[in-house]
Amino acid sequence: MIRVGILGGGQLGRMLLQEAANYPVEVHVMEKDENCPAANLSHKFINGDNTAYQDVINFGKFVDVLTIEIENVNIEALEFLEKEGVKVIPSPSALKTIKNKILQKEFYAAHQIHSSSFVVLQSKNELFHHLHMLPAAQKLATGGYDGKGVQLIKSENDIDKGFDAPSVLEKMIDIDKEIAITVAVAQNHEMVAYPAVEMIFDSVLNLLDFQLCPANINEAVLTKAISLAKSVAKGFGSAGLFAVEMFVDKQGEVWVNETAPRVHNSGHHTIEAHFSSQFDMLWRILLDYPLGNVDMVMPSVMLNIIGSEGYTGNIKYEGLKEVLSIPNAFIHLYGKETTKPGRKMGHATLLGNDKEALLAGAKKIRETLIVKSEN
Ligand SMILES: Nc1ncnc2c1ncn2[C@@H]1O[C@H](COP(=O)(O)OP(=O)(O)OP(=O)(O)O)[C@@H](O)[C@H]1O
Ligand SMILES: [Mg+2]
Repeated sequence: MIRVGILGGGQLGRMLLQEAANYPVEVHVMEKDENCPAANLSHKFINGDNTAYQDVINFGKFVDVLTIEIENVNIEALEFLEKEGVKVIPSPSALKTIKNKILQKEFYAAHQIHSSSFVVLQSKNELFHHLHMLPAAQKLATGGYDGKGVQLIKSENDIDKGFDAPSVLEKMIDIDKEIAITVAVAQNHEMVAYPAVEMIFDSVLNLLDFQLCPANINEAVLTKAISLAKSVAKGFGSAGLFAVEMFVDKQGEVWVNETAPRVHNSGHHTIEAHFSSQFDMLWRILLDYPLGNVDMVMPSVMLNIIGSEGYTGNIKYEGLKEVLSIPNAFIHLYGKETTKPGRKMGHATLLGNDKEALLAGAKKIRETLIVKSEN
């Protein structure tokens, strides 16, 4: 039986393992926390540090194929393992580029992929040398996630809030919509794109709020977006799943924002709303089977279930029975033991043919299912 190792044991790993049960595969997971969401669904769990060279080597040498569910892993170890014959998907070089926002922006520029213009900064002071770039978004080169590594610098007055570390400063796009397309690339380079999704963000938490599929965009925008997403995936020259986040501006131009080389929050709805989910698709890629069917079964809305303000500690769900009684609603809880404000605890997907009804249903779920703590 093929052995596959996953670096990272969060909710993405957990949902991957749920799909792994359908295939002839033995799955090993490495994470520092033995109570992580993916730990007890794996065949073998290793307590280790994904950023430590030796830990990744020790883990990787016992598997045939190695993948990730987070980008923050030791790339040098993956490069070594690849040379030793372990299949690493996505490739270490794609991961290296994506992990660092400076390299990622340089990659788009080098491949003529439409993305906002940018400059590279080493320190906060350098913001003063690039006032012509404002309004802009400053992004930490490494270490940012869920919007935490992004600071909007609208004018000179915001410079104080800037990061004093290696970063990119990119021109602000006049965003009409944020969309994403996941591209699946097989080991034989065959490629298929999921339908575009449209995101609406919570501007306070900077977290994904509601996500609609299909995105409400016209044919011309969709064509540009699919072509951009495919050129990003092609540019990396690696098998894997590539979730390409894009902006559509007020003029209908499409800009690549960033790419995740793995299963992604923007693909959670595919579990119920598409024939082959992003998780099923990744197994097909890892195990070298034919790609799955990306077609929609039904339109959907997806929302993250996040820890409420004011509650920290052991989880208590309020309204779970009520939301489970909503027809066509699917609730996924990630098995995290403790909650804190803004932490992703699960997600819900609602299927239906009427967009307004989907949005109303999503709001109902958001208002009904509340994550609190016991104390
Ligand atoms: N150039 C830009 N112009 C306008 N808005 C931007 C720009 N870059 C980022 N943003 C806004 O900031 C958000 C977060 O940026 P980005 O996706 O790069 O960060 P992130 O930390 O990777 O977030 P996440 O992990 O949630 O995807 C974007 O979704 C968008 O709303
Ligand atoms: Mg993003």
